[in-house]
Amino acid sequence: MSQPGWPAVLSDGPVMLRPYRRSDARAWAEVRRANEQWLAKWEPTPYGTWYDLNSPAAFRAVHADLRRAARQGSAMPFAVCNDGTLVGQITLGNIVRRAFCSGYAGYWIDARFAGRGIIPTALALVVDHAFSVGGLHRIEVNIRPDNLASRRVVEKLGFRQEAYHHRYLHIDGDWRDHLGYAMTTEDLAGESGLLARWHKLSAAAA
Ligand SMILES: CC(C)(COP(=O)(O)OP(=O)(O)OC[C@H]1O[C@@H](n2cnc3c(N)ncnc32)[C@H](O)[C@@H]1OP(=O)(O)O)[C@@H](O)C(=O)NCCC(=O)NCCS
Repeated sequence: MSQPGWPAVLSDGPVMLRPYRRSDARAWAEVRRANEQWLAKWEPTPYGTWYDLNSPAAFRAVHADLRRAARQGSAMPFAVCNDGTLVGQITLGNIVRRAFCSGYAGYWIDARFAGRGIIPTALALVVDHAFSVGGLHRIEVNIRPDNLASRRVVEKLGFRQEAYHHRYLHIDGDWRDHLGYAMTTEDLAGESGLLARWHKLSAAAA
């Protein structure tokens, strides 16, 4: 059964978000294996070696899990592409509807493509999509206090810091505190969306 907002392809200039395909296995494994040092510190504690957990074969299991969650309506998992190359991932997960209508965004990018505003663009696309056809009201992002690059992403876009979660997620070998950021549809009232806001901010900073 299809769920509101899924499947979808979203794009802005060279940045395109799309569902994963089976044929992404090799590219996904290459980019994940090349980025162990860059990503491991911020990711859930692994239950095996990075190399094995990020193999083309492992991708098949990851892809199946993501596809199942998307079909059930609890996630919108996007591959992030730049000029057609797979460079990262952004997932809206833990989607709960009824009185909550909320989801958590998580993301990563290949270090070789960091600092180009790709993830802020991706997050803005996802928020606008979630708040329109996706039918959601709130998007949350939880970030370790020392992850300054990720905090910059949400702060540049105008997410509000709402919470301090003690020993919240098991990341890189231990329970880690996280800052809780959020945005609701009301935060964009009177604007044409988060992507339009991001374009305005980027133009002003240039
Ligand atoms: C957090 C992350 C997704 C940001 O993506 P991005 O597309 O590089 O985002 P931006 O281009 O907006 O850069 C964000 C900040 O990273 C820093 N940055 C810029 N270039 C960088 C580079 N080459 N290397 C490291 N950090 C860099 C800057 O502080 C920048 O903020 P600024 O624009 O105010 O200068 C990326 O750093 C990443 O994948 N980190 C590892 C995984 C991770 O932390 N995921 C999020 C968990 S909550």
